[in-house]
Amino acid sequence: MDKNRVYVFDTTLRDGEQVPGCQLTTVEKIIVAKELEALGVDVIEAGFPISSPGDFQSVVEISKAVSEPVICALTRANTADIDAAASALEFAKRKRIHTGIGASDMHIKYKFNSTREAILERAVSAVKYARKFVDDVEFYAEDAGRADNAYLAQMIEAVIAAGATVVNIPDTNGYCLPEQYGAKIKYLVDHVSNIDKAIISVHCHNDLGLATANTIAGVINGARQVECTINGIGERAGNTSLEEVAMILKTHHALGYNTGINSKRIYDISNLVSNMMRMPVQPNKAIVGRNAFAHSSGIHQDGVLKHRENYEILDPEDIGLSSNAIILTARSGRHALKHHLERLGYKIDKINLDEVYARFLEMADSKKEINDHDLLVLMGDGDAGH
Ligand code: KIV
Ligand code: ZN
Repeated sequence: MDKNRVYVFDTTLRDGEQVPGCQLTTVEKIIVAKELEALGVDVIEAGFPISSPGDFQSVVEISKAVSEPVICALTRANTADIDAAASALEFAKRKRIHTGIGASDMHIKYKFNSTREAILERAVSAVKYARKFVDDVEFYAEDAGRADNAYLAQMIEAVIAAGATVVNIPDTNGYCLPEQYGAKIKYLVDHVSNIDKAIISVHCHNDLGLATANTIAGVINGARQVECTINGIGERAGNTSLEEVAMILKTHHALGYNTGINSKRIYDISNLVSNMMRMPVQPNKAIVGRNAFAHSSGIHQDGVLKHRENYEILDPEDIGLSSNAIILTARSGRHALKHHLERLGYKIDKINLDEVYARFLEMADSKKEINDHDLLVLMGDGDAGH
């Protein structure tokens, strides 16, 4: 086994789909699941079967439609949920039940009105029960981000002994700082005696904008599964974004980690999910935002035209884009204008660039962005009325 292989667990269709307004039909979910398979994710969390008949059916149909990734179904720590998940996963070639319970004192007291001891017993019973149906059981310790580390370690050790193959340490409320979250994972590596029998998974929420940073801190400290969604969609401020984690691990390949992600499919699946879920991607979103590879200031445009890597640490082709974008605005310089005019077929040595540039600035001051049609007008070849 490659000790640096990081498994990608996608929960776009479960944690992502919980977002109000993002609900998909079963047919739409199958389309997304197939694209996730082509993207190379290792695990698809297909739904929470007991939550509704529609979600149950989606897990059934995704299990039939997808063959490479493990298909995972979520449950709470009770037999009815686990029965529903096991039955929804009947047709999956590779299947996993994801069961769990709150691990923080906050959840134990105010969500379950219970005690640490009783919650530990429920966790162990749920894992044992799930193992009756499947060999692959993932346990989540909800709100682990705010849980006491010693109790969390006790819980994780007990569920691994009960048969959990993956242990998920969610920062459910996006509370931790990267140092804290990384230290929590390291604490488990150092204090759970049977930790080598399971894979540690990280599942981070983005309430403080730290989901991706926390996920990477988790990997550096020993986690080997990352739970993510496309475009970072998910409860409240969202989950860790798959494309960010994949491109961080690829860009920082010197760290030695590898995933099975075919990054060239990232841009297309980002668009697909955004359109289907009616959830626009913010223009300045890392990796997949409209402006992620767009250069607009004159200094940057000049630098990037001289050598792309002056202002780009990522190659747009690596995520499936054909090129970067040099946006013409009143902040652009002669070099960017020349680049676009040459692209449109004008021979710059035959025209006076200074004179055209002066007219360009006048035009650009009255518009947000200059497009190809505007350039044709500028050169006397277009109809200014359009
Ligand atoms: O954020 C969380 O804790 C979860 C669990 C159900 C895994 O989504
Ligand atoms: Zn979550």
